[in-house]
Amino acid sequence: MKNKELILKLDKEKSLEKPEWITLFETADDEDREMARHLAQKIAKEQFGNRIYMRGLIEISNICKNDCLYCGIRKSNCNVSRYRMTKTQIFECCEIGYKSGFRTFVLQGGEDGHFTDDILTEIVSGIKEKFPDCAITLSLGERSRESYEKLFKAGADRYLLRHETATREHYDKLHPENLSLENRMECLKNLKEIGFQTGCGMMIGSPYQTAENLANDMLFLEEFKPHMIGIGPFLPAENTPFEKEKAGSLEETLFVLSLVRIMLPNVLLPATTALGTLSKDGRQRAILSGANVMMPNISPTENRKNYALYNDKIGTGEDAEKSVENVVNSLKEIGYEPTVARGDYKEN
Ligand code: 5AD
Repeated sequence: MKNKELILKLDKEKSLEKPEWITLFETADDEDREMARHLAQKIAKEQFGNRIYMRGLIEISNICKNDCLYCGIRKSNCNVSRYRMTKTQIFECCEIGYKSGFRTFVLQGGEDGHFTDDILTEIVSGIKEKFPDCAITLSLGERSRESYEKLFKAGADRYLLRHETATREHYDKLHPENLSLENRMECLKNLKEIGFQTGCGMMIGSPYQTAENLANDMLFLEEFKPHMIGIGPFLPAENTPFEKEKAGSLEETLFVLSLVRIMLPNVLLPATTALGTLSKDGRQRAILSGANVMMPNISPTENRKNYALYNDKIGTGEDAEKSVENVVNSLKEIGYEPTVARGDYKEN
């Protein structure tokens, strides 16, 4: 089949065979990608109109016990100055976010042992008490099932844990030996069973990634049916083993976003910061390729430069107000509207 027919088949059947995915990733040209983008944009408009869900992102700690080879805040990077927000600082951030209209707060951070279940449940229930109309998303890495259960009971609504790559051999090339794809997948399965709106996701163009790896990612997404999917280009981070590797491609990342939107019409799909970093109009182009979520950073300015997962991350010199303003303006420029709705996942 020609690539255009494969894209039409994906739209109709919401599924492709592995060899078909591989063909698409290996041979798609600009025209094919353009066609996917148009279709994805149409589907996103049917599902969400021109409304883009807004999430306030708070980077609560850059302390991490893991040593992922791609990540700028990996444990063994001793050039990072480490910080951890206090409960009071996190509440203050939510306060500022709430006033700017946010009804979802995303607490993201490294795997920082300080954040025990007790401390986190206190933070989650505290935010819920103060802002009962808000959703809380956590993005704090791998934890035990019991821990996820406690966080859910405390009021957390959603959890983001990118699977990074669905191919074991590839996973092992990006991560230290003590981390495994099996455990990652187990965490994702637990999160979904517990009742979280669950997000996974992958980097595009990470070192060693092949078309077959991407095909496996698409097959995994089809099967797992996540509620949210974070997709961004790999970007090299200095003082990591991959600092000299080349960044993922903008076109390829947008193509994957389009294909995901076509396959999973109602999934929540953010225009990621990494895309905005790769290109000035990266997030706008993501929206036009089917993304429907924006996550402006509302973290305190002084912490931002230290949460550098990769080089030249955008927004590090800004405050919350400025980051929100940038995102809102960029949406308006392309005819979309930010919405303050909680924006929960809805079954079709
Ligand atoms: N380039 C792009 N994305 C990265 N992440 C971590 N390091 C990088 C990098 N160098 C992504 C991972 C992680 C998320 C929080 O950020 O996918 O899950």
